[in-house]
Amino acid sequence: MVEVGPRDGLQNEKDFVPIDVKVDLINRLSDAGFTNIESASFVSPKWIAQMAGSDEVMREIKRLPGVIYSALTPNLQGYEAALAAKANEVVIFSAASEAFTQKNINCSIHESIQRFVPVVQSAKRDGLLVRASISCSLGCPYQGPVEPQQVVNVVQQMLDLGCDEIDIADTIGVGTAGQVKRVYEAIFKVAPSKIFSGHFHDTYGQALTNIYAALEMGVAIFHSSVAGLGGCPYAKGATGNVATEDVLYLMHGLGIETGIHLGEVVKIGEFISTAIGKPNQSRVGKALLNRQ
Ligand code: HMG
Ligand code: MG
Repeated sequence: MVEVGPRDGLQNEKDFVPIDVKVDLINRLSDAGFTNIESASFVSPKWIAQMAGSDEVMREIKRLPGVIYSALTPNLQGYEAALAAKANEVVIFSAASEAFTQKNINCSIHESIQRFVPVVQSAKRDGLLVRASISCSLGCPYQGPVEPQQVVNVVQQMLDLGCDEIDIADTIGVGTAGQVKRVYEAIFKVAPSKIFSGHFHDTYGQALTNIYAALEMGVAIFHSSVAGLGGCPYAKGATGNVATEDVLYLMHGLGIETGIHLGEVVKIGEFISTAIGKPNQSRVGKALLNRQ
């Protein structure tokens, strides 16, 4: 389980979430048992103002041994900032759709890959993990449908760069279980299932079903956001990531050990929803709170 709330979840908030709230959120998440927390984003503050101060967040958090604190890095400038901030893993990001790549990082897919070459080389030299995120793997807000072959093409380029892990991201939450199966079937022909994750947003309410479909195919890494925080600044109308509480409830019900304390995560969901003045989007979180 990769908790992306502090980055993907908060990046779309209009009002600046104070640094101490972000730090508190990350500390509570590590205490609840998460071992991989997407904590920061070293992108241009002109593009994503909410992520300004990521260096301070990384400096202030309490680091638990064995926990990976990851950060988004769109280019070498971002990489150098992430290295200085002692990120354990950097996340490069492109998309299966040209139109989205242009809107999100102001370049073509090919140019983005060129930009990532020195990032990945530097990360390998410095001993950092590299994760690659492929947005719009199940649909694009500008282009519409995305074919599995388009995802395969970008996966292949990310593999050639030397990435350790690759996220299949449904940025706008439009994918269905049938599509999930087709995409993973196609990418498993070029690399083993263990390097892929599922990063599903829940706009159409399909995220849990998509996770279950991916799980049955052998995917073992899933991203989620506490209280279902989030939305994408370059995908109008898209809602947050699938709520962490809901995914934990699914996993624990299947007898899968996550090492994460659901009760604590429910409290964290309430803490962050209150802090940002938004309703808690986790069905499981709300149900368990109502029972108390
Ligand atoms: P650009 O304007 O083409 O870049 O943006 P540039 O190289 O021409 O630089 C322009 C200015 O930005 C310069 O400053 C640079 O110094 C500065 P100026 O001279 O004008 O004062 N700059 C930076 N500042 C801080 N950190 C940096 C950095 N790089 C340049 N790293 C760029 C290109 C990639 C920088 C920009 O488009 C950008 O930052 N985009 C980020 C967009 C973003 O963060 N989107 C959300 C994350 S992706 C996501 O959420 C999807 C995901 O969750 C998966 C899914 O669900 O799909 C991962
Ligand atoms: Mg996302």
